[in-house]
Amino acid sequence: MTIVKSIEELKKETSKIIGTVGFVPTMGALHEGHLSLIREARDSDDFVIVSIFVNPTQFLEGEDLEAYPRKEEADSKICRLAGVDILFMPTVDMMYESDELSITAPAIRGFILEGTKRAGHFDGMLQIVMKLLNIIAYNKPSKFRAYFGKKDAQQLVLIEQMVRNYFINVEIVPCEIVRDSDGLALSSRNVYLSREERGRALALSRSLKKSADMIMQDILDTNKIKDEMSLVLADIDVEYIAIVNREFKSIDRVEIGNSIILVAGALGSTRLIDNLWV
Ligand code: PAJ
Repeated sequence: MTIVKSIEELKKETSKIIGTVGFVPTMGALHEGHLSLIREARDSDDFVIVSIFVNPTQFLEGEDLEAYPRKEEADSKICRLAGVDILFMPTVDMMYESDELSITAPAIRGFILEGTKRAGHFDGMLQIVMKLLNIIAYNKPSKFRAYFGKKDAQQLVLIEQMVRNYFINVEIVPCEIVRDSDGLALSSRNVYLSREERGRALALSRSLKKSADMIMQDILDTNKIKDEMSLVLADIDVEYIAIVNREFKSIDRVEIGNSIILVAGALGSTRLIDNLWV
């Protein structure tokens, strides 16, 4: 594995690639969720590139940019063991200049749910993903795939739209959510949880399980489902419970094969999200 810390070096390294490229962008503090994306890339592509970059423009004022877990050494070990070919770790100065043109997330998908709760977050996220995709694609690999988790459902859908709207030559591969054995969706932010908070956080995945059980019993009325979910979430400071179609428009009845059920809530000062694609 080559650790690359500059854009020029990355371009040099990617110019040597023969075959398909699989790219997994991350903010580090790698866990099994990230690893599942890396494994999918390893299985499908000849060459695997992982980036670790805690992107300042997607953090809002007062969010955890400084506190965000940084584990450079452990992360590089994990990548090496997982068979990553290039680990790209740029600095903020390399990725940004002071007065940049910006990307704005679209009205509907961009400004509901996470978009309202974290206004501006998606603009910064799209900006860095665009930059990373362009840098990796610089040497025009024969086939270029980028892997993203369904855990960040709105992020994934927005990236798919950006690729479509800007005709970026990459295939976006959505990957399943990885959970702990007790159901908690893995997240780099789980380390912030106290024991007690972690226990309460299980209500997020339980509420989604509840929705799945109801759908199995053919209860498709989204208000009924949301009411039952809010009972399961009684011990959490719930930010939203939403049932939308894959366009992220609110729906009255679950459409099997075209719906996403999303929850967000806070445990103390830690904000967690989870979702289920049905
Ligand atoms: P980060 O939170 O580090 O996540 C990197 C990738 O791992 C994302 O595609 C995310 O959806 C996926 N992921 C995280 N937890 C997962 C889980 N439990 N199961 C499956 N996949 C999971 O998302 C970001 O970084 C950033 O916004 C980024 C896209 C890198 C842009 O800065």
